Amino acid sequence: MKRLIWSILAAVIVAGLLLPGCSGDTDIVRVATDATWPPFEFVDTETGEIVGFDIDLFNAIAEKAGIEVEFVNVEWDPLLAGVAQGTYDAAISSITIKADRLEKMDFSDPYYVAGQIIVAKTDTAITGASGLVGKTVGVQSGTTGDDEVSAMSGVNVTGYDEIGMAFVALLNGQIDAVVCDTPVASGYVSKYDTLKTVGEVLTTEEYGIAMPKGNDELMSKINAALAEVKADGIIDELVQKWLVD
Ligand code: ARG
Repeated sequence: MKRLIWSILAAVIVAGLLLPGCSGDTDIVRVATDATWPPFEFVDTETGEIVGFDIDLFNAIAEKAGIEVEFVNVEWDPLLAGVAQGTYDAAISSITIKADRLEKMDFSDPYYVAGQIIVAKTDTAITGASGLVGKTVGVQSGTTGDDEVSAMSGVNVTGYDEIGMAFVALLNGQIDAVVCDTPVASGYVSKYDTLKTVGEVLTTEEYGIAMPKGNDELMSKINAALAEVKADGIIDELVQKWLVD
């Protein structure tokens, strides 16, 4: 009897030691995304799931790198702050690699090139950036679109927490234009036939995966997997799957 109790005890202890390791030796990487930026990251209204180009891309990277991913939906401002502070292991969110961000966080190799573009109503008189003077332009606060419009003199910038709110305001005639990333602009323009893009693409920007500074081990895993993903033509497949041309 005593022996039985001891062996049960031993089994319980061993199980207790082993259980946390049940998912193998892979840690779960927490990846933040601001899922308000279709078609790169958004919530599928039917399933409630976070989907998009970036989600598929990170899943493909994770598969190659042998890491497990958990996506966390976070608003844009806390997302960047959270990556800088190490609240998340990584963020994929159409994040433009730029100097002031590189001071606070690390970036993977670039995976997509985009730019800022103006969107207005089809009957607009605006034909390019110079036409924005004296007008009210909606942006997502804290994005490179915000930077771009804020740097133009004589333009009224209205910042929104989500780009969808800027498009609602544009459709309702409350603002004159929206400035955002090219793939997002194309998505909205194809969805609403009262909208069009206007003028030239204003910037050239590269998207990267952001990570807290100094996690070189995860960064090299991600960059190696990203290189494989590119070589396999997966980025091209995602362009076909998610982007309108
Ligand atoms: N590329 C722009 C930037 O880095 C906008 C990205 C916004 N992404 C998002 N998921 N809301 O500033």
